[in-house]
Amino acid sequence: MNSLFLRSSCVLLCFLFFGFLKSGYATTSNREQEEYRFKEPALWAEQFDAPSRDKWQKPQTVIQALQLKPGQTVVDIGAGTGYFAVKFARVVGPQGKVIALDRELSMVRFLKKRAKKEGLNNLIVRKSPTNNPGLEKQRADLIFFCNSYHHIHNPSYLKALATALKKNGKIVVIDIKPNAPRLFPATARFKRHIKLSAQAVIKDFQDAGFRLDKEFRFLPYQYFLEFKPISVPSR
Ligand SMILES: C[S@@+](CC[C@H](N)C(=O)[O-])C[C@H]1O[C@@H](n2cnc3c(N)ncnc32)[C@H](O)[C@@H]1O
Repeated sequence: MNSLFLRSSCVLLCFLFFGFLKSGYATTSNREQEEYRFKEPALWAEQFDAPSRDKWQKPQTVIQALQLKPGQTVVDIGAGTGYFAVKFARVVGPQGKVIALDRELSMVRFLKKRAKKEGLNNLIVRKSPTNNPGLEKQRADLIFFCNSYHHIHNPSYLKALATALKKNGKIVVIDIKPNAPRLFPATARFKRHIKLSAQAVIKDFQDAGFRLDKEFRFLPYQYFLEFKPISVPSR
């Protein structure tokens, strides 16, 4: 009787666990976060900043879609070697600001040097803890993730972002479609890839109190989702 009860409980628990995984509730685990570390910026820069990326990344069309304006403040989370952060810094100009965050100290050092070399005083680069962006309240017109949210995949992380937005601020996620080809050859060093669907991202944001406001479909290998808080959080 007891063993029958135990076996049925195990089956039920497995169903619940895999059901959660399938519905997108599973977050990127600590083990996965440790497995996918970007510790060699020079190696990644060859991939992330390769001129060939522009063909499919369409940075100018992305910037137009974002409606970025001089004087605005952008937060780029998981900025890496600065592919977008550097372009944003040029668009928002000296009256604006780009805060580039990354969990890897080596990336942060690399991007700080790049900002200095390219004369971008408005590009502020900071190391941020894995589970908390540590942002000041009501500063950002745009919080931006490109190919980084699949490493985070956690509604609790997103909840902290609502108060960091200005009144009409928005959050944008561009990330790789699960069926896309391998975009960066160096990522072959990772045993497998974290695949995160647009639906799972939308669900995380809904769970964290955001609504999908816009979706752009001009990128061949990535989805492009724009979110706004459902209600303006108390400031
Ligand atoms: C695939 S790279 C993308 C870099 C850049 N956004 C681009 O499009 O070229 C992912 C970056 O996100 C960073 N990252 C991963 N998890 C993070 C977290 N929890 N907080 C901040 N940065 C994170 C990694 O260190 C890495 O630099």
